[in-house]
Amino acid sequence: MSRWTAGLAITWVLGLAGYLAAQSNGPRFPANPNVHQTGNADAGRDVFRFETFGNERFWTDAVRLPAGMIAANFTPVRALQNGLHIDSEAIPAALRDAIVAELRTNLSPANAPLLNSVSTTVALINANAIIGLPPKDSDRNGRIDILAGDKVGATCALCHTITDNSVASMPNGGSIGRRQDGRAPHTLNFGNLVATGTNSLAYYPVLQLALAANGGRTFGRAPTGLTEESSEAEADAYLSNPQFYPPGMFDDTVDGNGDPMHNMPLFRTDLAAPWGSEGAIQFLDNFSNLVYTALLDPTTLTTPGGRAFLRALGGPAAGEEISSDYVRVLARTGVSGYPFVQASPHPMPGSEAAPLGIRVDNTKLLDMNAYLNSLPAPPGVTEDEGAVARGRARFRINCTFCHNVDQSTFVPPAIVDMRFIFPGDAPVVLLPQRMAPLNPILDTPGNTFDDKMAVVNASLRGLQRGIALPLLLDLARKPVFLHDNSVPSLQALLDPSRGPTAPHPFYPSRQGHRDDIVAFLRSLSTTSAGGGR
Ligand code: HEC
Ligand code: HEC
Repeated sequence: MSRWTAGLAITWVLGLAGYLAAQSNGPRFPANPNVHQTGNADAGRDVFRFETFGNERFWTDAVRLPAGMIAANFTPVRALQNGLHIDSEAIPAALRDAIVAELRTNLSPANAPLLNSVSTTVALINANAIIGLPPKDSDRNGRIDILAGDKVGATCALCHTITDNSVASMPNGGSIGRRQDGRAPHTLNFGNLVATGTNSLAYYPVLQLALAANGGRTFGRAPTGLTEESSEAEADAYLSNPQFYPPGMFDDTVDGNGDPMHNMPLFRTDLAAPWGSEGAIQFLDNFSNLVYTALLDPTTLTTPGGRAFLRALGGPAAGEEISSDYVRVLARTGVSGYPFVQASPHPMPGSEAAPLGIRVDNTKLLDMNAYLNSLPAPPGVTEDEGAVARGRARFRINCTFCHNVDQSTFVPPAIVDMRFIFPGDAPVVLLPQRMAPLNPILDTPGNTFDDKMAVVNASLRGLQRGIALPLLLDLARKPVFLHDNSVPSLQALLDPSRGPTAPHPFYPSRQGHRDDIVAFLRSLSTTSAGGGR
């Protein structure tokens, strides 16, 4: 199997060199080495919002999400409690007026019958109003009815869009309003959503597993892992437990460990690359292709290309075990006719462009690149101009070793080595050797910060295991910090009581300085120039 295309070996050391050359405005790189190709942004909007490449057969016939919604009485109130967002402009006018009237009540079943009826959820899905779960005219009769032969798929918008709350918003939940594409839904309970399907076991390879090849050991947030013998109730118990699968997070690796990560923003994608918190992927369209071909329909992992991908990642024994157990789980739960996603064989199987050997329509991927590039970042929140100005000056002193001051310039494409971002990292070796250029599989027991990097990390591109630098935007709305949700606030992120070996241990020593930096961080937008206003 060919290896992933080796990226430009931009390392943290180069980041350091860039920093030294840059004086006080943050590290500088002469050019972004990860610029992606772009197509038509208008067409890309529809790809982002509605394109499923056929995965509605996975979500409807394998996970059986719509059937589960009906069985579980998944009303609009429940949908909002689950953190789903509803596109007010797609709701038929009469229904919208009735819902708006009910929203003025206490939402009890007596006062809000529509919002407490699963039939309304069905009507909203049929109207393509539940963001990220579009209905498809699968029986091709020219009309949409998910109770009569039509299917529901999943799109990127599910985890990368919110609304402007113009009609309603539920505290710690979802909202009804106009779409705001690219903004992270911090309260979406994806685990619970999958558990709502009557066959959530169909999502098997993305769950936390205990593999015989690893001596039955498991790692992740749950004490035990699932096996091919696990029941639907056991899969649901894992997915719907917020300790194991916290709201706002999604486990986007098919590696058998339970490593949900916090949803990320997807606006101004011209400014930050590589992709994934671990920076494993160089080009945006390659990331998108991997989501379509491995995560929104993971049954592809049972194909020869999928098996090769898993063997490379997890080692031959564990990789083969995940695939063959998955085949057994699918057979036992009556899933057939897979894989479902419509993708074509690619000339470079195993490369970053086609990790499973397949790629969805490239034109659509490039159109989506253009759309995501074009999405504006939200404005920042400024309460105290003086504090922001002082915070900016302080940030220059304490933080520009890695971060830009000015968020309208592209983020240094460096991977910050684990030694610097998590000095307490003390990993044990779980698998000493993998196919070059991959590093050994490593895990620091008792900490979730490194779990995402255990199997999937930038060594895929010949770089080191570490974390890519994020854009610092839309931070005032963020309820938790770091990719593993381990820090509850910006104040806590900068608080030295977290200790010198904690993840991201960069602490301005004085409380006043920390307060000012927090004010600065909350104010950041792509128009708040680093040079000061
Ligand atoms: C079920 C939720 C979910 C869906 C659906 C989803 N994503 Fe994501 N996405 C995430 C999470 C969570 C992360 C953070 C991953 C990490 O920390 O490495 C992420 C990260 C990303 C990133 C990396 C961002 C960065 O700054 O590094 C890109 C790019 C991305 N997603 C694109 C897409 C595209 C394109 C689609 C549709 C094909 C999609 N995602 C669908 C949850 C989702
Ligand atoms: C050695 C490099 C480095 C230094 C120095 C550094 N950071 Fe970071 N920072 C990172 C990386 C890498 C991440 C991404 C971490 C993650 O996703 O888990 C990050 C993430 C963040 C985030 C975003 C967290 C989130 O969840 O969205 C904030 C805010 C932040 N840093 C602020 C600061 C401040 C303030 C300072 C100075 C006191 C600072 N950083 C110093 C590398 C650094």
